[in-house]
Amino acid sequence: MPKGIMRRTTTQYLMILVAGVMFVCTFMAAKRAVPQHGVLPTTVADYVHAVIEADRAIYTKHVVDRMQEKGVVGASENWESQNTLPLPAQFLIDSARMVAKKNRGIRYRLVSLWPIYERNGPATEFERGGLEAIMKQPDKTYTGYAESGGQRYFQAIYADIAVAQACIGCHNAHPNSPRRDFKLNDVMGGLVITFPVGP
Ligand code: HEC
Repeated sequence: MPKGIMRRTTTQYLMILVAGVMFVCTFMAAKRAVPQHGVLPTTVADYVHAVIEADRAIYTKHVVDRMQEKGVVGASENWESQNTLPLPAQFLIDSARMVAKKNRGIRYRLVSLWPIYERNGPATEFERGGLEAIMKQPDKTYTGYAESGGQRYFQAIYADIAVAQACIGCHNAHPNSPRRDFKLNDVMGGLVITFPVGP
């Protein structure tokens, strides 16, 4: 083989090698730039909680309280038959029902150790343990994992506080309520948020 061609071939090999190394380096750098983990489940639960709480607060303040103050219409439990507004708790429960219908696996519900309705009592050991924990430390979200139908779920319980006189006035007076001495700022129950996480 003539010397000129041989030199060119060696140079070409070198160039291909350098290009190859550069390609692999770029590829590896790009891969490192992509986050290896998604958003933490606790963060997702915080996002969902923020939205639910904002909707509930706006509905309570700008719809229920405002309409009541202006003498337009009040809120009551039998709102459908009485042509009134749904209670904020019912608004939340109804919206949770609609979310559940989307079959994405995300659910949320209001629970309490002293529920007006038994269906709102703790349904699992996790919920009972969580309610007891947030009674002691309302600022600390109680979290855990559960398994159902071969699917893993993340769960978080946030304290539901008696932020207004209306909360305790209504619950303490409700004929079904098993507890009648709620005070302002007491933990009345919790909001449980559940959603599926990877295998
Ligand atoms: C006018 C009455 C009324 C007011 C005001 C009210 N609630 Fe309720 N609450 C109810 C009723 C009725 C339910 C049950 C709804 C259902 O399951 O259909 C309920 C449900 C709940 C539950 C679920 C456990 C249970 O008792 O069944 C929690 C927790 C709760 N409310 C907290 C609050 C808080 C906190 C406030 C104030 C921000 C509040 N409630 C204001 C009537 C009221």
